Amino acid sequence: MRDLIKPVSEVLGPVLAKMGLADFDLESIIGPATDRSHGDLAIPCHQFSRILKKSPVAIAEEAAEKMNDQLKGIAKATSVAGFLNITAESRWLGDRLSELAEHPTYGVEKNTTRTVVVDYSSPNIAKEMHVGHLRSTVIGDSLVRILEFKGNTVIRENHVGDWGTPFGMLIERLEDLESEGIQPSDALSDLGIFYRDARSSFDSDEKFRERARKRVVALQSGDEATMARWKQLVDLSFSYFDEVYDMLGVLLTKDDVRGESYYDSLLPSVVERLDDSGLLSNNLGAEVMYPGDWVNREGNPLPLIIRKGDGGYNYATSDLACIIDRTERLGADDLIYVVGTEQKQHFQMVFAAARIAGFLHEKHTSTHVPFGLVLGSDGGKLKSRSGGAVRLLDLLKEAIQRASAAVINRNPDMDPLEIQSIAKSIGIGAVKYSDLKADRTKDYIFDWEKMLSFEGETGPYLQYAHARIRSILARSGDEASLEKPLNYTLPSNEEARLAREILAFPESVDIAASELAPHRICKHLHRISQAFGSFYEHCPVLMVDDSLRIERMSLCALTGDILQIGLELLGIDAPSRM
Ligand code: ARG
Repeated sequence: MRDLIKPVSEVLGPVLAKMGLADFDLESIIGPATDRSHGDLAIPCHQFSRILKKSPVAIAEEAAEKMNDQLKGIAKATSVAGFLNITAESRWLGDRLSELAEHPTYGVEKNTTRTVVVDYSSPNIAKEMHVGHLRSTVIGDSLVRILEFKGNTVIRENHVGDWGTPFGMLIERLEDLESEGIQPSDALSDLGIFYRDARSSFDSDEKFRERARKRVVALQSGDEATMARWKQLVDLSFSYFDEVYDMLGVLLTKDDVRGESYYDSLLPSVVERLDDSGLLSNNLGAEVMYPGDWVNREGNPLPLIIRKGDGGYNYATSDLACIIDRTERLGADDLIYVVGTEQKQHFQMVFAAARIAGFLHEKHTSTHVPFGLVLGSDGGKLKSRSGGAVRLLDLLKEAIQRASAAVINRNPDMDPLEIQSIAKSIGIGAVKYSDLKADRTKDYIFDWEKMLSFEGETGPYLQYAHARIRSILARSGDEASLEKPLNYTLPSNEEARLAREILAFPESVDIAASELAPHRICKHLHRISQAFGSFYEHCPVLMVDDSLRIERMSLCALTGDILQIGLELLGIDAPSRM
């Protein structure tokens, strides 16, 4: 209830001063009440006890009494166990609600205008996307939506691994399969198997290894036939990635792809710039940089390898070129990388190097947005039924299939096409919500039953609350009356509670944006849905007097709109029927 802090501190300041408590930073002493049944805000009075030589209870009582007159129409102050508690009045809540309803983005201010690059998804060519890529794709996409909603200019970048030494063995594997009469599209129909076989030939066959090495050289020198093969690998992999993206319904498009190959031609200039600044040193033939105090396992200084002894470049070099490209060509202010926790040190070192080298200036921010692992029900790595790695496309298909069974169960007469579309919204929404709902740095257990349940903290629960609202409004037969300007009186506790949750929506979006934490929105939407549930249980909407009916319908509509927008920020569909 952050909007309440200002009017309350205007009253609280002078009251405290009169009591002999001047010079308190009001913003820092007023906080949300931990027990919401006591109030919206709370000020612990224990801190004043020593100064006034009175008990916290006596101080809270005195302050409450002095404040109440002036707070009329805004809030009520009470004293509970040494806390001064403030509870907003329905009239004040109602006025705020009207303001929010009139606001074009429901109270969320578009007040950040930076240019932000979000690096996300970023799978590797000719390799199966793993669940880490799923997390990066889902979290990154939500961050893009949230940051855009706040007014930023957001540039999406899919930093695919499409260059480097593995391509020697991958191209040779493709050649071998084709000479066995296997079409490239079949060869790459299962990227996991393709990559594994290429790797095993590379590890076990000296001749193959030699061919792979030569192939890398040919690739680096732009040999035409090799480039054509490379392109084939990229295109075939993308037909798979695109299928996954399409099913997920993410914002990423072909235009957002900027893989490692794009930076290849920029790498010599990275070395040159570092060298000109005297930042490179030689370590066993390699050109390296020491951007900080990192040490290896033996406790020796850990270098960032810029160019290997054989002249090849590194992942880090490519990321430095990428930083230059983003700040200097794209004019980015903030760089965000949604990549698994295991790359933490890589990004720390690359960011530090870029600062020292002057690729990142004071005005720039660079943030690694890490995330935890997806675990199977046994607490180990998530595996497919056959025990192998999970194929993302299969996983998403299964989600839709499971959701489809639930939709048919609930609506036996529904048109098959509609079932298909709703099942997709529910199945994918369930996967996304379960991925987004917890603090992203934590690991989570992938659990079909839980995520697809219509009860609890799940995507379907939120979607269902939204669909239910749409159906109430449709049943009313006079959705048009909602156009009327409104005065919310919020006569019952349930209405006031729902109003409070709606009013807190902008704050949760702001926090999600500043902490790059979509789960803040997930949690909040869940609270809104719960508040709506108890409102709807206790407050008849359509069978009451006119003015109350309009007010309640409008409360429904507002809840529905906020749920819809909130789900959109998470990249989750909000079907109007389920
Ligand atoms: N392709 C990498 C991987 O799968 C992720 C790339 C992340 N982005 C970056 N700029 N390094 O691990």
